Amino acid sequence: MTSGFKISFIPGPVNPSPRVMRALSEPMPYHRGEEFSRMYEEIVERVKPLFGAEGDVVVISGSSTAGLESALAGFARGRNVVAIVDGKFGERLAEISSLYAKEVTMVRSEWGKTPPQEELEASLGGADLLAVVHNETSTGIEHDMDLIADLASDRGVDLVVDVVSSIGGIEVKGDRWRAKALVGGVQKCLGAPPGLAPVMVRDWEGYGRAPYYLDLTMYQSSAMGNLRQTPFTPALPLFAALRAALREIHSEGLEARFLRHCRMAELLREGLEELGVELFALPGELGRLSDTVTSFMVPNPEVVRRELAKGGILIAGGQGPLRGKILRAATMAGVTEGDIQLLLSQLGEILSKITSKVPS
Ligand SMILES: Cc1ncc(COP(=O)(O)O)c(C=O)c1O
Repeated sequence: MTSGFKISFIPGPVNPSPRVMRALSEPMPYHRGEEFSRMYEEIVERVKPLFGAEGDVVVISGSSTAGLESALAGFARGRNVVAIVDGKFGERLAEISSLYAKEVTMVRSEWGKTPPQEELEASLGGADLLAVVHNETSTGIEHDMDLIADLASDRGVDLVVDVVSSIGGIEVKGDRWRAKALVGGVQKCLGAPPGLAPVMVRDWEGYGRAPYYLDLTMYQSSAMGNLRQTPFTPALPLFAALRAALREIHSEGLEARFLRHCRMAELLREGLEELGVELFALPGELGRLSDTVTSFMVPNPEVVRRELAKGGILIAGGQGPLRGKILRAATMAGVTEGDIQLLLSQLGEILSKITSKVPS
């Protein structure tokens, strides 16, 4: 999807479609009136199937991290938490949990790989809650959530899942995973502007105290009155844009959308392979290559990134320890086959210039 002269492969915020952007300029509804209530209701009903679960959905005005903290504050409080930390966002789950939990055990691996299954199994003994990122955006690995969720539920361990960069692009199975809560992001595969966090709670049991603004029980009781409301003034234009994005998603169809994301990621991986570019992620037994973010290695990644940007193509670099070491291209929301071909052809040209300058 293009915006001006730019094609964005940034793993969120993506460029929303023109229709979604137009929704931002709709007149403000009264947030305590029927019009907003209907809008909120529609958003909730359209988001539920994307979480793959029946449960309570609320939408917080705040970025996805607000949603993560709202879930972890309540479910991790005073408990023994295990977090899978094999990338930046797993690390964030551990950091947030450490503010509320009795103890946090990190099951770690080098970023770009997943930890051994037996280490996860060993850590789950005696744990109360597992916090895990479905799709680790910083490395381009989709965790095998069917397997991980079974390991947790076999041991009676509760589960909170970050589905920020998978929801709307890869199937999320909240019911199958028996998750307590799942937290989504709107600015990635949902194709909406950033600033809202949809949270699904499937089971409220064990949800303790949370910071005032992030207390999900307040959001839920405001949503359950005669009119569906939020406890605090909602970011109204963002709600309108999210509704427009969800309408587009449902008119495409969820199956078709997941397949399209899968096809775009395959095209990108195949094209990179043809260019002789090595993928970065080596997922191991707890994961697979992501269909929404592809990480890869090139000589002088930051130079390559800047050269691509000069030609109007935006891709992301590495984060944390991967800064300056890898590049990441997202195939989220509206990225097309034509966009990918353009990226691959420009990348090919840039790489041949760079390698011809490297003395042998
Ligand atoms: C997997 C994942 N979790 C959490 C976040 C944090 O989202 P936000 O910056 O919207 O708070 C991101 C952002 O990239 C992400 O990719």
